[in-house]
Amino acid sequence: MKMKILITGASSNIGFETGVKLARLNNLVYVTVHHSYEIKTVEEKIKNLNLEDNMKCFKLDITSELDRKKIKEYDIDCLINNAAIGIGGSLLELPIDLLKENFEVNVFSSLRLTQIYAAHLFANNKKGEIIFISSIAGIIPISFLGSYCATKASLITIATTLRRELKILTDKVKVKLVEPGIFNTGFNDIMIENKLERESSYFNNLESISLKQKKLFELLGHDSLNSITEKIVDATLDDSNKLLYRAPIFQSIMTKLYMLLFK
Ligand SMILES: NC(=O)c1ccc[n+]([C@@H]2O[C@H](COP(=O)([O-])OP(=O)(O)OC[C@H]3O[C@@H](n4cnc5c(N)ncnc54)[C@H](OP(=O)(O)O)[C@@H]3O)[C@@H](O)[C@H]2O)c1
Repeated sequence: MKMKILITGASSNIGFETGVKLARLNNLVYVTVHHSYEIKTVEEKIKNLNLEDNMKCFKLDITSELDRKKIKEYDIDCLINNAAIGIGGSLLELPIDLLKENFEVNVFSSLRLTQIYAAHLFANNKKGEIIFISSIAGIIPISFLGSYCATKASLITIATTLRRELKILTDKVKVKLVEPGIFNTGFNDIMIENKLERESSYFNNLESISLKQKKLFELLGHDSLNSITEKIVDATLDDSNKLLYRAPIFQSIMTKLYMLLFK
């Protein structure tokens, strides 16, 4: 076994597919899931892939303190913070409780888990690695998806700051940041669709805005997750001090251009 890796929110899509790639490279991967009822399906997928020796599944709801503490029972070389939700809606009208929920999952719970993991590494004088899955949406803000974009922007700041702070204490714990472009996993569709509020001042515009956004996402979005899962595998196995990993290439160029022109 080369490395022991834990991925959050890994029942399918980017998290699971990354797990498969890492397992095929003979690493031991804990693909953790939001709900217990997902375990059976994930275990079946693992069995069909003949990866039972290298892939294990358990429930880790990152918002549950009890679940977060479970990670101390595992010997983990790399934590991949992949779990996230996306809440759509206008920032003018979005109930702050929904914004809080978005931050609770994507930012605070991922950071809490990271703190437990880092403390465990320090207590056992172990080497380790922390990967945050942010998004191109953390750099390029998108109207009516402001809540999600803000959480992903926060993760960029958190990863960068944490890395600087850790460097003062140790060179044994690395921090990496992954910024995926758009992929057609269904995640974005749910986020785009869940903003239609009847009482919204935008109600008459929202349907056409949602339609345009969906079309744009479909046009730019990639069906194959290969480029991003490869990048996350690179980030996991790369022993260098590189911070940032982006894919696919075209959207990575778009992000660089955006930063040059607008930031
Ligand atoms: N798809 C894209 O275009 C895109 C672009 C940029 C970045 N990303 C990021 O890539 C990551 C994976 O996204 P994806 O596209 O592969 O979609 P996804 O499959 O929906 O991934 C999100 C995962 O997070 C899980 N999750 C939500 N709340 C959780 C909680 N409290 N505890 C544990 N797990 C929880 C979800 O589980 P349930 O579904 O069971 O709730 C789901 O498995 C996310 O961080 C996303 O923001 C995606």
